[in-house]
Parts: sequence; structure tokens; C-alpha cells
Amino acid sequence: MLSLMVMFSVALFAQQKSVIRVYPDKGEQVIHKEIYGQFAEHLGRCIYGGIWVGEDSPIPNINGYRKDVFEALKELQVPVIRWPGGCFADEYHWMDGIGPREQRPKLVNTNWGGTVEDNSFGTHEFLNLCEMLGCEPYISGNVGSGTVEELAKWVEYMTSDAESEMTALRRKNGREKPWKVKYIGVGNESWGCGGNMTPEFYSDLYRRYQTYCRNYGENRLYKVASGASDYDYNWTEVLMKNAGRHMNGLSLHYYTVHRWDNKGSATQFTVDDYYRTLGKALEIEQVLKNHIAIMDKYDPRKRVGLLVDEWGTWWDEEPGTVRGYLYQQNTLRDAFVAALTLDVFHKYTDRVVMANIAQMVNVLQAMILTDDKGGMVLTPTYHVFRMYKVHQDATYLPFDLICNKKKVEENRTVPMISATASRDKNGVIHLSLSNVDADNSQEITVELPGVKGKKVSGEILTAANLTDHNTFEKPNTVKPAAFNGAKIVGDGLLTVNLPAKSIVTLEIK
Ligand code: AHR
Repeated sequence: MLSLMVMFSVALFAQQKSVIRVYPDKGEQVIHKEIYGQFAEHLGRCIYGGIWVGEDSPIPNINGYRKDVFEALKELQVPVIRWPGGCFADEYHWMDGIGPREQRPKLVNTNWGGTVEDNSFGTHEFLNLCEMLGCEPYISGNVGSGTVEELAKWVEYMTSDAESEMTALRRKNGREKPWKVKYIGVGNESWGCGGNMTPEFYSDLYRRYQTYCRNYGENRLYKVASGASDYDYNWTEVLMKNAGRHMNGLSLHYYTVHRWDNKGSATQFTVDDYYRTLGKALEIEQVLKNHIAIMDKYDPRKRVGLLVDEWGTWWDEEPGTVRGYLYQQNTLRDAFVAALTLDVFHKYTDRVVMANIAQMVNVLQAMILTDDKGGMVLTPTYHVFRMYKVHQDATYLPFDLICNKKKVEENRTVPMISATASRDKNGVIHLSLSNVDADNSQEITVELPGVKGKKVSGEILTAANLTDHNTFEKPNTVKPAAFNGAKIVGDGLLTVNLPAKSIVTLEIK
């Protein structure tokens, strides 16, 4: 066997063979399962029609929640859901969404399409869903158009077990015991739809709002300040400096979009577009590094978590759909954005404690698409989340990777292989490998020094075309299959043959 140095040199100069060396003994950080978090906003058909149809719907439901969607989410092991927005959160008054449904006020959703919001899905419906799914709720509080008192009372309503006006109201509305609510977001995009504030003004407001978000009983809040978007490093700087010690977490939003005025079709694109998209998706790594460097300056012990609580692709809305609903299809390209972004998040797990893909159903890079006739489609992105769930709460294993790179834009290159590895609580190693190359298969040598694994199995996600996607008529065009292109060729040594444009997760035991 060639020594590692020789192999790496061969790969580097000949640009032919790809090699990954995983360090099974060097794992230190746990990949927070919350990195696999979801985001569900009152936007388009995410909540209404996507998650909630009501008990009287002809669509099969469990207490009003779509049964098919619920079961698909259960399978995904969703760890946390952020709700009710997004931009919607800063216009949401939670008291509109409690009490008998027929008495709840009807309002116009001014952020998203101007549709009528009947408030039939509110605090009880959301928190009960989280309990049924076994996931953490992440409440996004209204700072933009709300009051300190309103947010304080919401926390009390949800989490207090004492005798008070708020808890009496909750009991009257049918919930005796408080819910467990850990994550509370103090505003959303406060630099934009959440109030167009300066970071200085918001820092002060954040300090004030969070003061009155109390810990009741055993419940311990994890308070999240509304963070920057993309490259706005000044926002992070000011927030950390002025309010860092009052927060548990700071958020960040990063969407994979090239031009906001011309986002492009979700399903009609060229191979060059595909590579450019992956270049933009991977840029999140540098963005993370820059925000983390600022956080490290003010918080070297990494007490404050970074929560990428909105991320994903943002394409033009599907032709013929309601403007403002942000309904888009989801192809193999989106699956790659998901896989490569999760690979990046795993690397920064000492700071990145949560991520929430936008959004869970029928909006942006959704897991699930539904129609109003009872049809449901699992997207390629869903399949990546399902294949990757083995990494949740597993120990991240560092690695070196040598592979070819492709220049995709003036200042951007994309490695032709992306990878991540972890060891779960039972000692089983999982390795995810993406062959980004749209046209060529690639063989990769996997080194796992010290691992005496005897058995390797896996799953693969690929399709005939990058533009392939699942529709209500053809829901299984892109779906995972068993993978048998990996072979153990020696102690701690594997060869893996990755077909063009494929995403593979291997289990080695
Ligand atoms: O996810 C859609 C929107 O994108 C959210 O409401 C907002 O926070 C962001 O700008």
C-alpha cells in the first residue's frame, strides 16, 4: 500500500484519484441534532394546507394535522421547528391564535400574498405538534410591532405552572400543564422586515425584551438575538459587543440565491448554473468563518451559539402559483445544496448549534410538497435529510480530502467531492460522500486508520438528470436506492465508486 503522503501527492499532481482519510480517534465535537432543524412560517401553504388542514377536512388528518405529512416528518426525526416566522413573526400577536377557533380574528397576511390568516393554527396547535413529533419548539417573538409585555406574557402562558392570569387562560383553553419551550427568538431580521433597525438600536431593544422573558419552574430559555444576513459582519460585531452577554445564541440567515431580481427557475437550468449554485451554497463556509471570528473575539469560550435559522435555495416561484407564496420545485440540484451545506455545518459544530432550512412544507427549499387533493411529494432535499439523519448527535470525525476542483466563477472553485463523517453512540461510523461531478463517476479511496470494520452498506441518491424532480404524478423520479459500490479492501481501507451526480451515505461496522 502506498504511504498516505505518496497517495496524497499522486492525487494532488495527477488530479485523478480522490482520497479521503478520516481520523476516527480524533472526534471531539458532537453534531448537534438541531442542525437538522426546520422552519415553518405562516407563508403560502406551509402551515395551511401543508401541515394543518383542520379536523373537518376530507384529507386524512390527526386532530387537524395532515396525516401523510406528519408521518413523513416523524420519519425525518425533526429535532426542532422554528415558528411562526420569518417576517410574519414580527406582525404576529399570539393572543389572536388562542381560544375557540371560530372566535379567533381573521387578518390579512401583509407579508405574504395578502391572504386571509384565520389564526386557526396558533400556539396550542404548534406546541402540540412539536410534542407529537418529539421535537423542540423554537418560538420567534414579535419585536417589530409587538411589546415587551406581549412577549413576556407569551412565555408565561406557554411555560408557567403557577397560578396567574396567563396560566388560567391557558387552562381555560384546554392545556393544564405548561409546555417545555427552550428556544425563544427575540425578533426576526430586525435589520429588515422585523423593523428596519440599526444594530445599535436593536441591541438595546434586545437587552430590554430578553430581560422579561423569564424562566418559569424547571423551564430554561435559550434566548436568541436576531442576527445578520449573509455578509453583514457589522451587525454581528455590534450585537456581540453591546448585547453578547445577554444572549445564548445569535442567528444568521444565508440563502443560496445569485440575483434577487432574477433568481432563476427551480427546474430549468444548465450544468453551468448547477455548478454556480453549488459555488454560492459553499460560500456559506467563508461567511460562517467570518461571523465566527467576530464572535470569538467577544466570546472566546464559545458560550454563545450561532444559529443559521434560515438557509436554503430561493428560486422563482413556480409558474401559475400564487405570488408571494414562495412555492418552488426541488431537483437533484437542491439535494446537492442540502448535502454540501450540511457537510459544512458539521465542521463548525463547536459554534453552529442549530440550523433551520427554509422551509418545511410547500415554501422555498421544502422537504415536502402537498396539493389540496390529498397528494404529497417528498422532495430530493427530504431524501438527503433522511439519509443524513444518522449524523444527528453523532461525534464529528475530522478528515483530509483530496479531490479535483472545478472553477465555477471568477472567484469560486468547487471541490468535486464533498464529505462528512461521524461515529454514532453505538460506535458505527457513517460517511456521506457527494460526487458533485455532473458527468463523471469517481473512485475514491477511503482510509479509516484503526477501524476494523467488516461490513459496509449504504444508500445512494441520484437521477438521470440534474433537473429531475418529483411531482404528484411521478413522485418517485428522485429517490434513494441501496448502494453497493463500496468495498472493503483491507483493514480500514475502502474503495468507493461514486456515480456521476450522486450523494451516498455509507455505514461501516
Ligand atoms: O423564508 C422566507 C423569508 O425570508 C422569511 O420570512 C424572512 O425572515 C426571510 O427574509
